[in-house]
Amino acid sequence: MFRLAHVTDPHFRGFRGAHPGQFFGKRAVGLANLVVNRVRKHKMELLEDLRIDLRAQAPDHLALTGDLSNVALAGEWRAALAWIDLSGVPPESVSVIPGNHDAYVEAVVKDRAFEQLFAAYQTNDLAREGERAKAATYPFVHLRDELALIGVSSSVATGDLGAWGQIGEAQLGRLEAILLAPELTGKTRIVLIHHPPVMHKPGEHRNLRDREAFAAVLARAGAELVLHGHDHEDQRAELTGPAGKPIPVIGAGSASYAGGPERRARYSIYEIEGGAIIWTSRVHDQATDTFHEKRRERLA
Ligand SMILES: [Fe+2]
Ligand SMILES: [Fe+2]
Repeated sequence: MFRLAHVTDPHFRGFRGAHPGQFFGKRAVGLANLVVNRVRKHKMELLEDLRIDLRAQAPDHLALTGDLSNVALAGEWRAALAWIDLSGVPPESVSVIPGNHDAYVEAVVKDRAFEQLFAAYQTNDLAREGERAKAATYPFVHLRDELALIGVSSSVATGDLGAWGQIGEAQLGRLEAILLAPELTGKTRIVLIHHPPVMHKPGEHRNLRDREAFAAVLARAGAELVLHGHDHEDQRAELTGPAGKPIPVIGAGSASYAGGPERRARYSIYEIEGGAIIWTSRVHDQATDTFHEKRRERLA
């Protein structure tokens, strides 16, 4: 049995190395939001408790689906890297994709700062010789045991205060080719994407703009599971694959959220064997500062 842990939206904090000149425009607004709201809503202690639980669970693989930062600062990402290092999961067993907060300002997207720092977790098992040393081109693929993890980026510098995402036509084309690649035949194909690829909440300022095109790719090429973050709550939806086969689409709540039990800090573990998938959710308990299993569900 293969055990995959899914952690999302930790929103690490870390300002080491930042200078005042980095805080203008959208980042200044983000920083004000951080001071007023996020410090209260997202607690770094919860990430420590989660890391201890994750170590004890000893999953075979860890998938992180974005919003590792708040305002796309190197200090925030370094805090995430240190956390991954201490998680006990070896680098070749970790997949990382960015979220909208990791593309908070255009300059870091242009510099590919995220891809440089997280390169070890974005290797591509389908890359041709000569391509392997380059920073990630999305989607990347991790072939592990009976799994194929496909890391999609929906992270774009929105240029406004929106939190919307977009995959783009070129990446969608590559995604379809990957899902149909002979190397993936017979594998449990798990697509990782930050934004929910379905409409959960109204308002296009925070949704995936090309979700219909994504759904069309999956309708043609299929996948066995889609995992996402972004909405900071557990979510469940379905897309349709070839021949009407349902594809579960599951979002996990934020790993650091300090609110009530419905959305409190959590992560998921998927037990996968012979194509069967069991979803469990591990949720932080405020009374004991430990994580407990809150859900166990067999996916169709
Ligand atoms: Fe988030
Ligand atoms: Fe997000």
